[in-house]
Amino acid sequence: MVLSMKSTAVSALAVLLSTASAQFVPAPTDLTSTKGFLDLSVRYKEVPEGICELTPGVKSYSGYVDIEEEQHIFWWFFESRNQDPHDAPLTVWINGGPGSSSMIGLFQELGPCGVDSNGEVYYNPYAWNNASNMLFIDHPAQVGFSYSVPVSAYESSSGDIVQLPNATCPDYAVDCGTYSYPNASDTANTTANAAPSMWRTLQGFMGAFPQYSRNEFNFATESYGGHYGPVFNEYIETQNALIKKGELPGAHHIKLQTVLIGNGWYDPLVQYQAYYNFTVFPGNTYDYSPFNQSIQDMMYNSLYGPGNCYDMTVDCYTTGLNDICSAADNFCYLEVEAVLDNIPDRDEYDVRELQPDPFPYEFFVDYLNTPKVQQAIGAYVNYSESSSTVSTAFVTSGDDDRESGTIEDVRKLVEQGVYVVQYAGDADYNCNWLGGQVVSELVEAPGFGTAGYTNITTPDGIVHGQVKQSGNFAFVRVYQSGHEVPFYQPVVALEMFERAIRGKDVADGKHSVWHGYKSVGTPESTYREGNATVQLEVMDPLATYNTTTNAPNPSNSTSTKRSLEGVRSKRSKKLFKPDPATQEARRKFIRTGSGGRA
Ligand SMILES: *[C@@H]1O[C@H](CO)[C@@H](O)[C@H](O)[C@H]1NC(C)=O
Ligand SMILES: *[C@@H]1O[C@H](CO)[C@@H](O)[C@H](O)[C@H]1NC(C)=O
Ligand SMILES: *[C@@H]1O[C@H](CO)[C@@H](O)[C@H](O)[C@H]1NC(C)=O
Ligand SMILES: *[C@@H]1O[C@H](CO)[C@@H](O)[C@H](O)[C@H]1NC(C)=O
Ligand SMILES: *[C@@H]1O[C@H](CO)[C@@H](O)[C@H](O)[C@H]1NC(C)=O
Ligand SMILES: *[C@@H]1O[C@H](CO)[C@@H](O)[C@H](O)[C@H]1NC(C)=O
Ligand SMILES: *[C@@H]1O[C@H](CO)[C@@H](O)[C@H](O)[C@H]1NC(C)=O
Ligand SMILES: *[C@@H]1O[C@H](CO)[C@@H](O)[C@H](O)[C@H]1NC(C)=O
Ligand SMILES: *[C@@H]1O[C@H](CO)[C@@H](O)[C@H](O)[C@H]1NC(C)=O
Ligand SMILES: *[C@@H]1O[C@H](CO)[C@@H](O)[C@H](O)[C@H]1NC(C)=O
Ligand SMILES: *[C@@H]1O[C@H](CO)[C@@H](O)[C@H](O)[C@H]1NC(C)=O
Repeated sequence: MVLSMKSTAVSALAVLLSTASAQFVPAPTDLTSTKGFLDLSVRYKEVPEGICELTPGVKSYSGYVDIEEEQHIFWWFFESRNQDPHDAPLTVWINGGPGSSSMIGLFQELGPCGVDSNGEVYYNPYAWNNASNMLFIDHPAQVGFSYSVPVSAYESSSGDIVQLPNATCPDYAVDCGTYSYPNASDTANTTANAAPSMWRTLQGFMGAFPQYSRNEFNFATESYGGHYGPVFNEYIETQNALIKKGELPGAHHIKLQTVLIGNGWYDPLVQYQAYYNFTVFPGNTYDYSPFNQSIQDMMYNSLYGPGNCYDMTVDCYTTGLNDICSAADNFCYLEVEAVLDNIPDRDEYDVRELQPDPFPYEFFVDYLNTPKVQQAIGAYVNYSESSSTVSTAFVTSGDDDRESGTIEDVRKLVEQGVYVVQYAGDADYNCNWLGGQVVSELVEAPGFGTAGYTNITTPDGIVHGQVKQSGNFAFVRVYQSGHEVPFYQPVVALEMFERAIRGKDVADGKHSVWHGYKSVGTPESTYREGNATVQLEVMDPLATYNTTTNAPNPSNSTSTKRSLEGVRSKRSKKLFKPDPATQEARRKFIRTGSGGRA
């Protein structure tokens, strides 16, 4: 009797202990260790079928490249579905931020799966691994599953990571987990110094998996990728030139072929102005005019008034000083960009929706914080969509307000024979297509000035956008699409990707871009969607998006009621602001750049 009571007490204690420590991530014990190029350590495992890729026989691996003693970069690889993966090209995808995880792209946009409101994985028939091997990288260190040193910690109400003495979650702590120790020296703080760490990550992966890296290499990115894409890839080309000269022994020449950038943040001086243009008629093509005259005047003054955003950004460009750039960016964000968030409460990433916007679906975040998935992918830390350590590091250097040589690097890449596609969903305000279009002209790619906008054809017979292209440089406008184009317009996104990596024109994929190809059409892209898909009500958090109607599917009141209760707690952590407290958190979140340009 006594014994049994004792054992009950012991097992109750064991249950308590295990629930307390279950919130922490045990270090994986089943990773295979190998070496990449430059002798970089690579640790990985094969991911079981069904965790994301659902196609039998299509293999998936995940793991880390240890690029520095305290910088461990997480990657997740998927074989090409429809080709021999040992013959397929390799494409890297990274999200922006700075500080945003590339699991956003994987699960919300173009990976082999998504996660639905029941936490179940569903198949994506428009995944980009239909056409290429795909490698998703959480970059730089401390983003997503990447880490410096894993520690037991919790997230304070102000968003700081507070270390705990041991793997026990105290009563006062919420969001206990295993986090990357927040050390600003263990990551990058500018686009320029993030380039070598990306290059080293690629050297690690390619050396460990030469069978997947034999052919051409493509790089696709989004948002802050307008900074990352041009600079990282021009760095790859510079390293290639050194390798050719026999310098950099042990390094691998990367056969860079294509760079795709979705809704990129290239040139703040142009793109801060584009916020004003987008909100004032003729502006956006949804006939959506968010502000009355006095707000428009205020925004105009915040931009062009003496000493305001434009002048401050010019000052940043001229002096290059961190403090000046950082202060300029803060001013431009609060006084120009965020006017849309504060007055009509619209989603910066898709002006058709009010906040909180349930699209693209966020359910993957909880999925990635389950022991089953963490074990399956060999994770060392809990998952977070955005790293405040990384975004703060970039904010401190003022990188968001710098042009960072992005336009010149695009120009160089085009000259060097790399096919560059800039594309933009036209309902995004954050990195809107009006700014992207001006940037595409500033690149001054040969012949681009006299090319015209033409319809893009797709197998579904629907025109999803237009392209202006000259040779190996294209600017694509995608209709009825927010920031994350492959989520809203999967058909045209996959077509565009396939055509680009095969060296074909974006418009119909029938012409090689290498023999003086030029698109013929109108000087401007004039199509207007009108306001039919602009929503006037906040959507049910469980609403689903219909890519045929370009609008939410109708939901019914039962599901609305259920969902509002079930999902609120998850929402409050995200970029949304259902109540004033969260609104404050979000301001801080974006001001510190975190998830600012995901
Ligand atoms: C961290 O992951 C564990 C599962 O391994 C989970 O129980 C815990 O809730 C996660 N913590 C956070 C903050 O998501
Ligand atoms: C993607 O590939 C799968 C087969 O692996 C195929 O069933 C599917 O139709 C393809 N998607 C498209 C859009 O062609
Ligand atoms: C863990 O740390 C707490 C202090 O937060 C302490 O009270 C507790 O005894 C420690 N537990 C173990 C198992 O060391
Ligand atoms: C932060 O990172 C640097 C570089 O890895 C390291 O030298 C330093 O000890 C770290 N600081 C702490 C407090 O861990
Ligand atoms: C904004 O509109 C003005 C006036 O039409 C135009 O000159 C400028 O190029 C536009 N800039 C952007 C970034 O859209
Ligand atoms: C303009 O809009 C703002 C914000 O909605 C409002 O506070 C203000 O009263 C409006 N001004 C006029 C003149 O309608
Ligand atoms: C950026 O990081 C470098 C290298 O760690 C450091 O020397 C520099 O001070 C950092 N810059 C800022 C503005 O934090
Ligand atoms: C381009 O597509 C639009 C629909 O968006 C259509 O009205 C127009 O006729 C098309 N133009 C050409 C030249 O096919
Ligand atoms: C769309 O425009 C029409 C005509 O201007 C207007 O009556 C209607 O309210 C607008 N609808 C939305 C959703 O803005
Ligand atoms: C999307 O809308 C179309 C047209 O109304 C409809 O036929 C289709 O069933 C909808 N798709 C989903 C997934 O609800
Ligand atoms: C409406 O609610 C019913 C019952 O909960 C559910 O079966 C159905 O799928 C819902 N329809 C939509 C469009 O959400």
